[in-house]
This record gives sequence, structure tokens and C-alpha cells, in this order.
Amino acid sequence: MACRYMTFDTSRVQNQKMPMIIYGTAWKQDQTANLVYEALKAGFRAIDTGSSSKHYNEEGAGVGIRRACAEGLVQRSDLFIQTKVSLLDPAFTNFRDQYSTVSSFVHASVASSMSKLCSVDLGSPPYLDCVLLHEMYEDMEETLEAWRALEKHVPSQIRLIGMCNVTDRHALEKTLAVLALNHLQPPDVIQNGFLPAQVVEAMGRLGDGYDHAIREDCAGYNLEKRTPYQAFWVLTANTYVWKKEWYVLGLASVLGISPAAAWYALLISLDIVVLNGTRNVQHMKEDIEGVKRALAWRDDVASGKHVWRMCLEEVAGLTNTSLGITSWFKEDTNRAYEQELKGEAQASVDRSTVQGVLKSEAEKLRKTFMY
Ligand SMILES: NC(=O)c1ccc[n+]([C@@H]2O[C@H](COP(=O)([O-])OP(=O)(O)OC[C@H]3O[C@@H](n4cnc5c(N)ncnc54)[C@H](OP(=O)(O)O)[C@@H]3O)[C@@H](O)[C@H]2O)c1
Repeated sequence: MACRYMTFDTSRVQNQKMPMIIYGTAWKQDQTANLVYEALKAGFRAIDTGSSSKHYNEEGAGVGIRRACAEGLVQRSDLFIQTKVSLLDPAFTNFRDQYSTVSSFVHASVASSMSKLCSVDLGSPPYLDCVLLHEMYEDMEETLEAWRALEKHVPSQIRLIGMCNVTDRHALEKTLAVLALNHLQPPDVIQNGFLPAQVVEAMGRLGDGYDHAIREDCAGYNLEKRTPYQAFWVLTANTYVWKKEWYVLGLASVLGISPAAAWYALLISLDIVVLNGTRNVQHMKEDIEGVKRALAWRDDVASGKHVWRMCLEEVAGLTNTSLGITSWFKEDTNRAYEQELKGEAQASVDRSTVQGVLKSEAEKLRKTFMY
């Protein structure tokens, strides 16, 4: 299997699957087609793009997808194709008079994305796996109208609909309340920047570090169902973690994978779907293979899960995540409990020894890469 998936139900459709690592196509302009093709060749199965030409080349993403399908590397049914509707995009704001209403713009945007990303040669009937509203709008009426228009395409043309840049829990709660009042369903997916508190503050954004509260909501606190949380800027906003911390570098060294892959795999273990925006084909391969190796080690090697748990506790502390609500941790705890009931001895690790080994491995990597 090229990558791990999250399986979940939404209020509209059952048994959805989303890869835990998504290739992000922002700011790749005319390299987009080739990079999307390379990403699929490397093993990515999810592509994130958008209708806003300021940030994305949606047409290029479609060309890359079709090339990979035509060469038999992937089939449409293997793929998760996600795009965005951008009401703040100049294509809408500058030509607003062309569209009589927000909903007519949304329908036009969906039709345009469908034609660029799912043309007939990908198989029929065409569909998009997910469409996100790129921004939350000041004017709640516009958000409502856009949401209502998007919902009309679910589930035939669009399987999932979601929201990006949901600034904080308060904004999410307000939106959910208004949707409910208008008999509309909540978002199936949230996509946000995964930022430490100091970056949130420096950027003048609302919300808390690492989206702690929103992620709790996604785990089922405020949103009724478990809702996938997709994170962007996972690397760019967090270099001081994945290039510095012993629990990332130590794992990377022990497993023979890149620090980026170790960081991704740890976040995936916290139920975070990660977006990866590399332009480097070698990084694509290292990331996909590294994540696969790390998760297999976590699940298949007896001592692996104990070391993993220790490192995960560090990441949970850093990101203010309640481990008890995350699926791998819950499953692992239940497994351990069942083993205990059966009187099976647990393999244990000496924390200080393991920490010592990981710290010295981390130091080796720091010296090699001069992090
Ligand atoms: N909804 C929104 O408003 C929104 C906003 C921002 C982003 N996004 C989505 O999120 C995606 C990712 O965002 P991003 O590109 O800004 O952030 P990112 O994935 O955190 O960072 C990518 C950067 O990290 C570098 N890097 C170094 N080692 C790497 C490795 N092993 N693997 C991957 N990258 C490595 C890359 O350089 P190299 O190219 O040299 O590898 C690149 O400069 C975007 O493409 C877009 O799809 C959405």
C-alpha cells in the first residue's frame, strides 16, 4: 500500500477514505503538471489544489493526474483529488458583476474544477473527492450561500466538502451554529495552518498554537463526527522542531529515514493529515517511503511501539494534544490492556536509556546535516 488512509463517516456519506499524506501544489506554477506526476509516481495518492490562479495551477494538476493515469501508474479510484473555491480570489472579486450571486460563482467554480481535474478520460462519471471553501468570510450570509451551493453537488459530483483557514474555535462554533440554524450540515474536513503559538501571534492570527482547540473539535468535541484535520505549513512553520528536537532526529536516525518523514509520521499518529509541498522529487520519495517505514516499525516491531509512544508523548506535549483522543494511542492502550488481562507480559523499555540513545543519534544527524 502506497500510503495510510483515514476511514470515516460524514453526515452525508459513509465509509470515506482519505490518505494521511497529501501532495500540495501551491505556488508551483508551470512546474505543477510535472510535479504532480512525479508525486503520484513516488506514491502520493492525494493531490491538493485550488481554483485560485494566484496560488494554484489547477489545470496543471489535472494534466499531471491524467498523465499518471494514462501511463497506468494509478487509477482514478486510487486517488483523492481535492480543490478549493476562492471567493476572495480576484477571478471573483474583479468580475463580480459577471456572477449575479455567490452561488452562481460557486457553481461555475465547481464546473471549472471538474473540467480541469476530472475530464472524461479519467473514467465516468467524473467526481471530486473534496472541495474546500478557501477562506472563512466576514459576511456570514456569503459563507452560507457558498456552503449551500457546494452542498448541492454532494455526493454525486463532490464526495466531501470542507473549510480552510478556520481561524479559531469561536469562529468554528459560530459557523456551526449558523449552519445548523439553516439546516445545513457541518464541514466534513478542516484544513488549517499548523503553527506554533509564537507564529500565530507574529502573523497576527487568531487561535491557539497548533490549533489545539480546533483539533479537539475535529476529534468529535464540537463537530458530531470525527472530522479529518488537514495541516499545512507542517515543515515551513516548524523547522525548529523537525530539524532540532531529539525525538524527531533520533527516530529519523534509528530508522534511517529523513527528519521530515519522522515528523510527518509522528503527526499522522496524532490523527493529523499532513500536506507536503516539496518541489524536490528525491524528497517526495524519501517522505513517502520514510513515513511508510516509520509507521510499519511503530506497528510491527515489539520495542518500536514503546519508543514511538515516548516520542509521541513529546510531540503531544509540544502541540498540546490530548493523546487519549487520538486513534493510534487509544488502540494501543486497549491492546496493552487486553494483553494485561490475558496475563501476557508487556515488553518494557527503560525510558532514560532510550532517551539517551535517541539523543545521541539526534546529535549525529545534527552534525551530518549541520542542523
Ligand atoms: N488552504 C490554504 O490556505 C493553504 C495555505 C498554504 C498551503 N496550503 C497547502 O499546503 C501545501 C503545503 O504547503 P507549503 O509548501 O507551504 O509547506 P510545507 O510542505 O510545510 O513546506 C514545503 C517546504 O519545505 C521544504 N522541505 C525540505 N525538506 C523537505 C522534505 N523532506 N519534504 C518536503 N518538503 C521539504 C520544501 O523544499 P523542497 O521543495 O526543496 O523540498 C519546501 O520549501 C501547499 O502546497 C498547499 O497545497 C494551503
